[in-house]
Amino acid sequence: MKITEAIFLQSNTEYEKCPKPDKPEYAFIGRSNVGKSSLINTIVQKKGLAKTSQTPGKTQLINHFLIDQKWYLVDLPGYGYAKISKTEREKFESMIHDYLSNRENLLYTFVLVDIRHEPQKIDMEFINRLGEEGIPFCLVFTKADKLSKTAADRNVALYQEKLLETWEEMPQFFVSSSVNGSGREDILHTISDLNQE
Ligand code: GTP
Ligand code: MG
Repeated sequence: MKITEAIFLQSNTEYEKCPKPDKPEYAFIGRSNVGKSSLINTIVQKKGLAKTSQTPGKTQLINHFLIDQKWYLVDLPGYGYAKISKTEREKFESMIHDYLSNRENLLYTFVLVDIRHEPQKIDMEFINRLGEEGIPFCLVFTKADKLSKTAADRNVALYQEKLLETWEEMPQFFVSSSVNGSGREDILHTISDLNQE
């Protein structure tokens, strides 16, 4: 699938105020700094469309991007950001969960995890909650350029092992890098297939 136009539409704190749910939608979520905004820019090949930062906690709202007038990409705030108050963190978490549970045109959620780290409790809890709520999702192992292929494969296998303790099968997954664009084509294929359904 070729993308010719990607535009920023709106930022919101409430899912009710998001753009009209009349197009297929795909959301990107994961811990702060995992590379959600960067991956969106890589997918649409437009640097700076979604705001990125070396400092965690950059994205603080539900951001909608309209792609080729036909579908939406959504950049969400990260979870687990330590340097904010508990109240603030809970506010972000309920904003994210309200959106994920209620957004009627949300077809697929891409849950990003950093390929360099072993399975983290916070990610497992997030993933398990999505599963319990029946929200369709896949995994994206980000920052693959930072590891050798062997180390990357090992970490993906570790994740798989951990997930299979609670899940019957491994969800669909991708390995990506916003530095060299790996994973982009596969993610776009998946989106293109879902757009067609
Ligand atoms: P929040 O909005 O704060 O939750 O972060 P985010 O998940 O949107 O992460 P963001 O895209 O802002 O990237 C965080 C940092 O990681 C930035 O310094 C990016 O340049 C870097 N980064 C993101 N993706 C990659 C990647 O694939 N490879 C490498 N090497 N760095 C990456
Ligand atoms: Mg971000």
